[in-house]
Amino acid sequence: MISKRLVDAINDQIKAEFESASLYLSMAIWSARNSFFGAENFFIKQAEEEKEHAMKFVKYLLEVDAQPIMPELSKPDSDFSSLQDVFKRGLEHEKLVTSRINDLVKLSDEDEDYATNDFLQWYVTEQVEEEKSFRDIVRRLEIVKESAAGILRIDDNLAQR
Ligand SMILES: [Fe+2]
Ligand SMILES: [Fe+2]
Repeated sequence: MISKRLVDAINDQIKAEFESASLYLSMAIWSARNSFFGAENFFIKQAEEEKEHAMKFVKYLLEVDAQPIMPELSKPDSDFSSLQDVFKRGLEHEKLVTSRINDLVKLSDEDEDYATNDFLQWYVTEQVEEEKSFRDIVRRLEIVKESAAGILRIDDNLAQR
């Protein structure tokens, strides 16, 4: 049986995943308002994925006969200064989520909860991809620096996600 502390920690993570969705929607709105329509598309898709991450946890708790809790969300950041700033903060956010997932894995190890440990491995792999996708864009933005043509070209590529 899943421990109470692991159920509580997963409920905290459900909140964190919905807050990720909310942060990325905020980034999508900033992108749209600043005419970065590729980034708008990228962040809308990113937000949808985060909602799926949250729902996967909700379904898991139901599967193991535990109580998922719908969270109260805090207000996301919306004061971005540039497209570079948006993606850098996205990368920092993903690193934070990775450390949270690692903490969950550690808890499941301590509890010798093999089912939850196995379930969490999907998120471990997912976080490697999430960090890479943000890091790649941050690096490309660093290459073009202030070049408007370079930034718009990167933004155009983000429309194809
Ligand atoms: Fe996520
Ligand atoms: Fe993510």
